[in-house]
Amino acid sequence: MNIKSNAVLLYQAQDLKSWRESLSCKDARPLIGFVPTMGFLHEGHLSLIKEAKRHAQYVIVSIFVNPSQFNDASDFEHYPRNEEQDIYLASQAGADAIFLPSVEVIYPHGAQTWVNVGALGDTLCGASRPGHFQGVCTVVTALFNLVGCQVAVFGEKDYQQLAIIRRMTQDLHLPVKIIGLATFREANGLAMSSRNARLSPQARQEASGIYSALQEAQNLWRQGQTSLLYLEQRIKEALPTCATIDYLSFCEPHSLQLLERLEQAHDPSQPVLIAIACFVEKVRLIDNLILAPLTSNSQK
Ligand code: PAF
Repeated sequence: MNIKSNAVLLYQAQDLKSWRESLSCKDARPLIGFVPTMGFLHEGHLSLIKEAKRHAQYVIVSIFVNPSQFNDASDFEHYPRNEEQDIYLASQAGADAIFLPSVEVIYPHGAQTWVNVGALGDTLCGASRPGHFQGVCTVVTALFNLVGCQVAVFGEKDYQQLAIIRRMTQDLHLPVKIIGLATFREANGLAMSSRNARLSPQARQEASGIYSALQEAQNLWRQGQTSLLYLEQRIKEALPTCATIDYLSFCEPHSLQLLERLEQAHDPSQPVLIAIACFVEKVRLIDNLILAPLTSNSQK
């Protein structure tokens, strides 16, 4: 396949520098918007690129399967890849440049510095994938510095990742505005993920039940059911049989601290994040949903 791309392809730090220097200012928006990805692009990524286009004059997309954020070698190995198609799709979605670094470009020989997160990384995926967020934060910091963006767009499917990147950007005074975009879903409700491509057609259909189970809990909450223990039970019952739970957690949406006392009625004026990770055909899928605070009008 030889697909033509309108976007400039960049491989080295020096290429990025030359590209930045070639840009001329067109309007008052920030010059560079950035969408970091691990490739195998889908509609969700394309929506991030389109969003970045709204916020910046030029958009650059990176495609880099970051080895340091995988704590499972086989997961890294099986992560889907299709560079040629990614270049075409990113370019079609409006990317002006695509950065395709090698491992050596991101982690130069002898690199030994890591960006570590605090308590935000202790729960959910941070607990079940030790080292994952250290890898994410390190690569995102390196990419921000290499790319020189003023705006970066991330998806809310990776809720914890987005919260951590916002915190890291603030804590380290990184001059980048972080924008979060709502989860893009397949027609059946399954959260879009590059990993979905590894599911059989049947499992891909059945896995839509993960989101339906979360929605069922949301409906019960809206009807006034504030026992999180009950909601947890209902989600477990509603999950498709193909899904094996890695975690199903109820958290405070800002601190990501786990709500421990699920048996007690939850204060309906306080929002709750429900986050789930499960395995379907050995593929790890995540999703989340926020139970918005209930007002007397919303309980109808
Ligand atoms: O969300 C992802 O695809 C990755 O974690 C990211 C942000 C590109 C870092 O490798």
